[in-house]
Amino acid sequence: MIEPNETIINGNSDNYQNDTTATIVATMGICFALLALLKYYLVGGVCKSNCDMTNKIVIITGANSGIGKATALDLARRNARVILACRDVTKGKRAMEEIKSKTRNGQLIVKSLDLGSFKSIRRFCKEINKEFTQLDVLINNAGIFFHPFSKTEDGFESHFGVNHLGHFLLTNLLLDLLKQSAPSRIVIVSSLVHAFSSIDFNNLNSEKGYNRMTAYNRSKLANVYLANELRERLQDSGVTVCSLNPGGVNTMIVRRLFTDWVYRLVWPFLWFLLKSPMQGAQTSIYCAVSKDLDKSHGGYFSDCIMKPVGKTAQDNGVRKKLWEVSERFVGLN
Ligand SMILES: NC(=O)c1ccc[n+]([C@@H]2O[C@H](COP(=O)([O-])OP(=O)(O)OC[C@H]3O[C@@H](n4cnc5c(N)ncnc54)[C@H](OP(=O)(O)O)[C@@H]3O)[C@@H](O)[C@H]2O)c1
Repeated sequence: MIEPNETIINGNSDNYQNDTTATIVATMGICFALLALLKYYLVGGVCKSNCDMTNKIVIITGANSGIGKATALDLARRNARVILACRDVTKGKRAMEEIKSKTRNGQLIVKSLDLGSFKSIRRFCKEINKEFTQLDVLINNAGIFFHPFSKTEDGFESHFGVNHLGHFLLTNLLLDLLKQSAPSRIVIVSSLVHAFSSIDFNNLNSEKGYNRMTAYNRSKLANVYLANELRERLQDSGVTVCSLNPGGVNTMIVRRLFTDWVYRLVWPFLWFLLKSPMQGAQTSIYCAVSKDLDKSHGGYFSDCIMKPVGKTAQDNGVRKKLWEVSERFVGLN
């Protein structure tokens, strides 16, 4: 038989348990909502333009993986004729087949381009200039990150050589075609880290010491300088020039930082903290297609919004000097 006192004690204990469960559920709900909000914030801006790209010709460097491939997929969906400019052509053809099967766009082309070789860049541009009478968008996307010290075919430190000099030469050799196709666009994929760097003309090629992070950051600052200088030079040409930060994106660039088992371990965190390649491609796509930029000279973008560049990137003296030095290095003048 249950004593009256016992009933009261059991009743209190039930209430206590219910309260605890409710508190746990509420706390979990709040945590989940906060995490969802954080993820939404990390995903960043989305290109809302539904602009069709029929009859437009686009070149994307490094289009066989990551942000470049996602950009190619989106532009193919918009019916653009996309030229996938790839160092690894076999991987490029695989990417092209995948994009074709998803979009039914039969106008995709893969072309060989090694940005670490001036010879390859010149050959690529010669072919493009011969085969095409129009180029609407050039997307300088390819890049290497955090590589151990190495040199390009032409003897330049690889980050500086591939990320900056390669694209510098490529853009200059396609400039007449871009001007002739105006209104046209040049889109240069840089990074937020450009703001934490500076150009050391005494160690441009890392002869006096090498740090892979410094080398990468400097190459991304050089990307912003290139865009700013081009914008000034092309002011009345109808060519819009944008540089951009895609944000932190879960691509091969990040994957290569980890061994296989560490990557499997950290994958959930990377998935949560970083954008997917398609999310990371949104600002590139925005700069390539958005009608908002039709009458603009361009600028620096992040999350599909124009932002100010870092302080060092505003130094016009360094910008001009870098252009001159780069011209000399690639043998343009
Ligand atoms: N992921 C991020 O968090 C992040 C953040 C800020 C900026 N970015 C920038 O985003 C761009 C795309 O990177 P991602 O994240 O998409 O990395 P990814 O998946 O590694 O793509 C890099 C692309 O560049 C190509 N590439 C490398 N060296 C080349 C060369 N010598 N010639 C021609 N192509 C070359 C690669 O081709 P192969 O397959 O032949 O190597 C690959 O297609 C880079 O410019 C990077 O600096 C990325």
